[in-house]
Amino acid sequence: MSKITADKTLKIWEFATQHLVAGVSASTRVNKALGRPFIALHGEGSRLWDVDGNELIDLCTSHGGSILGHRHPKIVAAVEKALEMGILCSYETEYQGRLAAKICEMVPAAELCRFTCSGTEATMHAIRLARTITGKEKILKFEGHFHGYHDYVHFTWGPSLDKLFSVDESPTIPESAGVPEGMTRYCVVAPFNNLIALEKAIKNHKNELAVVICEPINYNAGCIIPDREYMQAMRQLCTDNGILLIYDEVLSAFRMGTDCG
Ligand SMILES: Cc1ncc(COP(=O)(O)O)c(C=O)c1O
Repeated sequence: MSKITADKTLKIWEFATQHLVAGVSASTRVNKALGRPFIALHGEGSRLWDVDGNELIDLCTSHGGSILGHRHPKIVAAVEKALEMGILCSYETEYQGRLAAKICEMVPAAELCRFTCSGTEATMHAIRLARTITGKEKILKFEGHFHGYHDYVHFTWGPSLDKLFSVDESPTIPESAGVPEGMTRYCVVAPFNNLIALEKAIKNHKNELAVVICEPINYNAGCIIPDREYMQAMRQLCTDNGILLIYDEVLSAFRMGTDCG
């Protein structure tokens, strides 16, 4: 294997730091292991090249967004077709309705869709809707589960190891400065895949809980697949206690398979 070089990368990064916070557009892109960002030049199929000409296998695939690989002719043709229509981001076209129909066909639980520009917005709107429907205000999330950057959910997704796997209710730990202290009282945190803890948390907070939100497969903590019985019990506990259940499938949807039944 040829040696990885980073001369151009470091120059580009240095220039970027003059006007971009930390020289990147998302703080995790200053890769802790490399001590610098990866600065891409182009991708083709499963491969990526950086600005120094290093060829790599793309195991990130835009966090799943480009899981079909780079520059597949059908995807390039579809994007070109969209651009030929003009830049119609603030308008309806026939395609939103057609995509929604396809999603409802593939996901039996989906009756209607609303598209958002980010996962953060999707979970924020879903939680707000759940609060409106139930008339309750608290949410229950799980430790190690990430649902975006808004203040409803920005708790206990990357706790230090000594705080993980609590046997009971987990602490509600803000993951950033600037999250108002008062927001912690709207968020209950439980360890994942632990039915006794979930039953206890729901029993203690059922009259205040609008919603239980989870990553059905917890990719943000690696890839934790819960027990089927646990997920069935979660569904039942929510139904029995008038709590809505949100599956945040930002990372798992349509990547585990097309069968979403
Ligand atoms: C499960 C999950 N939910 C929500 C989000 C937030 O999505 P976005 O970064 O598009 O706001 C992410 C982002 O990685 C995620 O993994």
